[in-house]
Amino acid sequence: MYFPRVLLQFLAVAGLSQAAQPRESSTVCTVPAAGSTSIDDAPAILEAFRKCGHGGKIIFTNTTYHINSVMNTTGLQDCEVDLQGTLLWSTNITYWLNNSLPVGYQNQSTAWVIGGKNLHFNGHGYGTLNGNGQTWYDFVGSVSNYPRRPHAMTVSGATDSIFDGVRFVRSQMWTLSIIHSQRTSFTNIYVNNTGESGTAHNTDGADTIYSSDITFRNWEVVNGDDSISLKANSTDILIEDCTFHNGLGVAIGSIGQYKDVYETVERVLVKNITYDNTLHVAYIKTWTGEQVGYPPNGGGGGLGYASHMTFEDLSATALRGPAFAISQCTTFSGASGNCTSSKFQLLDIVLKDIAGTSSSGEVASLQCSAVELCENITIAGVDLRFSNGTQIDDYLCGNVDGTFGFNCTGEVCVGSSATGGC
Ligand SMILES: *[C@@H]1O[C@H](CO)[C@@H](O)[C@H](O)[C@H]1NC(C)=O
Ligand SMILES: *[C@@H]1O[C@H](CO)[C@@H](O)[C@H](O)[C@H]1NC(C)=O
Ligand SMILES: *[C@@H]1O[C@H](CO)[C@@H](O)[C@H](O)[C@H]1NC(C)=O
Ligand SMILES: *[C@@H]1O[C@H](CO)[C@@H](O)[C@H](O)[C@H]1NC(C)=O
Ligand SMILES: *[C@@H]1O[C@H](CO)[C@@H](O)[C@H](O)[C@H]1NC(C)=O
Ligand SMILES: *[C@@H]1O[C@H](CO)[C@@H](O)[C@H](O)[C@H]1NC(C)=O
Ligand SMILES: *[C@@H]1O[C@H](CO)[C@@H](O)[C@H](O)[C@H]1NC(C)=O
Ligand SMILES: *[C@@H]1O[C@H](CO)[C@@H](O)[C@H](O)[C@H]1NC(C)=O
Ligand SMILES: *[C@@H]1O[C@H](CO)[C@@H](O)[C@H](O)[C@H]1NC(C)=O
Ligand SMILES: *[C@@H]1O[C@H](CO)[C@@H](O)[C@H](O)[C@H]1NC(C)=O
Ligand SMILES: *[C@@H]1O[C@H](CO)[C@@H](O)[C@H](O)[C@H]1NC(C)=O
Ligand SMILES: *[C@@H]1O[C@H](CO)[C@@H](O)[C@H](O)[C@H]1NC(C)=O
Repeated sequence: MYFPRVLLQFLAVAGLSQAAQPRESSTVCTVPAAGSTSIDDAPAILEAFRKCGHGGKIIFTNTTYHINSVMNTTGLQDCEVDLQGTLLWSTNITYWLNNSLPVGYQNQSTAWVIGGKNLHFNGHGYGTLNGNGQTWYDFVGSVSNYPRRPHAMTVSGATDSIFDGVRFVRSQMWTLSIIHSQRTSFTNIYVNNTGESGTAHNTDGADTIYSSDITFRNWEVVNGDDSISLKANSTDILIEDCTFHNGLGVAIGSIGQYKDVYETVERVLVKNITYDNTLHVAYIKTWTGEQVGYPPNGGGGGLGYASHMTFEDLSATALRGPAFAISQCTTFSGASGNCTSSKFQLLDIVLKDIAGTSSSGEVASLQCSAVELCENITIAGVDLRFSNGTQIDDYLCGNVDGTFGFNCTGEVCVGSSATGGC
C-alpha cells in the first residue's frame, strides 16, 4: 500500500514537470487591431485566446488595442502571451458598472480575468495595460470601494505561471488582483497610477486572495493606496527587490471582514525593498470583532490569524507615518470602530534592518486587540531618523505580548484610522 502511493506521487510530479517545459507553440495567433476607439478589439482578442489558448502563442503587436468590453480568458493551458503594444480600456462608465466581471471576493469586479495552467505572459518591459483611469478617479471622487468599479486585471485560477515585464498605467481601480492561484510569479512589473492630480486612491499595485506560492520580484509601484496587499488566505508569499512610491507600503489585510469566517495569512517574506514617500513600510489592518454592514464597505467579526511574516533589508526615504503599524479598527465605511475587539490574531512578526528617514516620531504603532493579543513581535536593526538627523525611537504598544529587540515606550493612541495610527 505504501509503495504504490509514493510511486503514484512520483509519476504525478514527473508528469507535471514535463508539462511545465517550454514547448514549441503549435499555433500562433497575431491579434489584429482595428485602430479606432469606436471599434472594440476585445472580440478579436477573445478569438485569439480561443484558437491559441491551449498550447499556442498569442501576439499583440506594437500598436494600441482598444478594449471596450469585458474579457474572460480563463482556463488557458501551456499558453504564451506576447504583449508588445498597449491595451487601452474605454471610459464608458455606464458600460463598465453594468458589466464588470465578479472577482470572487468582497463584491469586487474586474475588466479582464485571465488564468490557466503554465501560462507565460511576457510584456518585455514595454507591453502596457492602460486603464485610462483618470475618468474613474474623477467619477468616484472620495468613495473608496465604488461598487462594480473594475480592477485592471484579475489573475484567477492560475497555476505554474509567469507574468513578466508588464507595465500598468492609470488602472481603473486596483491594478492586479490574484485569486485562487498557486505557484505563480510576477516579475519586472511597473505600475504607475498617477493621475492629473497625483496618485489616485484605491489603486492598489497588487492584491492576493486565496493564493499560495506567489512571488513578486522587481516591482516598481507608484500609487495612492496599498503598494502590494496580502488578503484572505495568502500563504507562502515572497515580495523582493521592489521600489514603492507614494502609496501605503506593504499591507496585510484588510482581513477579518466576514463574520465567523476563518482566514489566514502565513509565511510571508518581504525583502530588499526601497520605499519613497510611502505612509508605512508595512501595516496590518483587520476588521473589528463586531459586524457592521456587508462587504465591500462593511463587515467585521472575522476569525483567523496572520503569522510568520518577516520584513527585512528595508530602505526608506521620507516615510509619512510609523514604519510599522497595526490597526484592528476597520469597520463600516470610515466609522470609528472598537480597536480592541477583533478576534483575528497577529503573531510571530519580524521587522529587521530598516534604515532611512521619516517624518513620524514612531518606529511602530501597535494597536492590537484585547481579545486576541498580538504575540511575539521582533523589531531590530532600526536606524530611522528625522530629516535633521535625530534618531526616531518611539514604539507605541497596546495589547502586545512578547516584544523582541525593542521595548514599548508608550501606550498606543486610542481611536481609529483606515491606514493605521489614529
Ligand atoms: C513601438 O512603436 C513605436 C512607434 O510606432 C516606436 O517608437 C517604439 O520604439 C516601438 N517599440 C518597440 C519596443 O518596438
Ligand atoms: C456606453 O455603454 C452603454 C451601455 O452599454 C451604451 O448604451 C452606450 O451607447 C455607450 N456609450 C458610448 C458613448 O459608447
Ligand atoms: C446592463 O447589462 C445587461 C446585460 O448585459 C443589459 O441587459 C442591460 O440593458 C444593461 N443596462 C444598462 C443600463 O446598460
Ligand atoms: C469565465 O469563464 C469561465 C468559463 O466559461 C466561467 O466558468 C467563469 O465563471 C467566468 N468567470 C467570470 C468572472 O465571469
Ligand atoms: C455582496 O454584497 C451583498 C449585499 O451587500 C452581501 O449580502 C454579500 O455578502 C456580499 N458578497 C460578498 C462576497 O462579499
Ligand atoms: C509616474 O507617472 C507620472 C505621470 O505620467 C510621471 O510624471 C512620473 O515620472 C512616473 N513615476 C515614475 C517613478 O515612473
Ligand atoms: C535589491 O533590489 C534592487 C532592485 O530594487 C536590485 O537592483 C538589487 O540588486 C537588490 N539587491 C540584492 C542584494 O538582491
Ligand atoms: C481559508 O483558510 C482556512 C484555514 O486554512 C480554511 O479553513 C478555509 O477553508 C479557507 N477558505 C477558502 C475560501 O479557501
Ligand atoms: C471594545 O471591545 C473590548 C473587547 O471586547 C471591550 O472590553 C470594550 O468594552 C469595548 N469598548 C467599547 C467602547 O465598546
Ligand atoms: C512566543 O515566544 C516565546 C518565547 O520565545 C515562545 O515560548 C512562544 O512559543 C512564542 N509564541 C508563539 C505563538 O510563537
Ligand atoms: C529634529 O526634528 C524633530 C522632528 O521635527 C524635532 O522634534 C527635533 O527637536 C529636531 N531635533 C533637532 C536637534 O533639531
Ligand atoms: C528593554 O528593557 C530591558 C529592561 O529595562 C533591558 O534590559 C533591555 O536591554 C531593553 N531592550 C532593548 C532592546 O532596549
